Amino acid sequence: MKTILVTGCAGFIGSNFVPYFLNKYPDTRLVNLDLLTYAGDMSNLSDAPQNDRHVFVKGDICDRSLVESLFKEYDIHGVIHFAAESHVDNSIKNPGVFVQTNVNGTFTLIDVAYKTWMEKPFVTKKGYEECRFHHISTDEVYGTLGESGLFTEETSYAPNSPYSASKAGSDMIVRSYHHTYGMKTVTTNCSNNYGPKQHDEKLIPTVIRKALKGENIPVYGDGKNIRDWLYVLDHCKGIDLVYHTGRVGEVYNIGGRNERNNNQIVDRICTLLDSMQPKNDGKSYKEQITYVEDRAGHDRRYAIDATKIETELGWSADENFDTGIVKTIAWYLNKYMQDA
Ligand SMILES: NC(=O)c1ccc[n+]([C@@H]2O[C@H](COP(=O)([O-])OP(=O)(O)OC[C@H]3O[C@@H](n4cnc5c(N)ncnc54)[C@H](O)[C@@H]3O)[C@@H](O)[C@H]2O)c1
Repeated sequence: MKTILVTGCAGFIGSNFVPYFLNKYPDTRLVNLDLLTYAGDMSNLSDAPQNDRHVFVKGDICDRSLVESLFKEYDIHGVIHFAAESHVDNSIKNPGVFVQTNVNGTFTLIDVAYKTWMEKPFVTKKGYEECRFHHISTDEVYGTLGESGLFTEETSYAPNSPYSASKAGSDMIVRSYHHTYGMKTVTTNCSNNYGPKQHDEKLIPTVIRKALKGENIPVYGDGKNIRDWLYVLDHCKGIDLVYHTGRVGEVYNIGGRNERNNNQIVDRICTLLDSMQPKNDGKSYKEQITYVEDRAGHDRRYAIDATKIETELGWSADENFDTGIVKTIAWYLNKYMQDA
């Protein structure tokens, strides 16, 4: 049985990835290293197979001796690296931990992988020839777009927040290990994800939760910031495809071609909630929408050109925003109505 180290899989995307991947590959074991920061939640993994093919380890990706011991104990033959500090607002208040986890943590993981799998630059140890390091990154490294244009893999990096700068730094470290040491790396830069298990702090869970509680639904600035929304399972399928079939040393952008501004997102959620969970007083949730002071340095627009992964690897999103958001709201209705 082959063992892959996955990191940060008690968080949003990783915890959607683990059950998908384990169900698809019955001959693979995942060792899941997660520090369980405020963003990690073991209940996110309740739908993962509870057997010896999923080993959970609470620990820090920056802890070199722990990472080395995991590589040794489980004879790790691949890494899929999700763990990160991921919330832009937190990076504005407390950037240091973003540099620590996202930059130093990625360095620790890939350096241990290099020393475990390779004799020296471009010479792999016997038995480790197929080992890959897959780095999960974000479209935010490309900065912001005007009204037109799309991010391609050739777009210059121009990160604008401490979060995106730390992710850009980690992308560069991974790139350097391919070019300098010949490591088999792949990197995916994905657009905004949505779906089940996302932390309460993020936009879509916040809108649903505040709506149901009868509180103000906060929208930053004029609400016209645009993101390219991808259902989380479509991201997981893209990661699977790139991990197994992407060309080594390459970067693949993943995005759903579903651009929406925040006003459209909030409006759609309120419309759906009005029919899925009507308010007792018959009013619309839209009356709770409130505009608040904009995020500092708020990027205006992100949008992905996914042509490379679509044409090279045959990936396409199964959900569009209109189908994915209905599933998403149903999941949070179940969660928040139980909490109520
Ligand atoms: N959410 C998105 O829309 C999105 C889009 C593109 C890329 N990404 C990237 O995907 C990855 C996962 O994002 P997410 O939304 O699931 O994040 P998340 O914040 O929901 O989860 C992050 C997980 O990492 C863990 N973690 C944090 N610091 C750690 C450390 N030092 N050691 C070990 N574990 C640690 C946390 O406990 C948590 O379980 C990140 O690398 C992020 O940059 C996210």
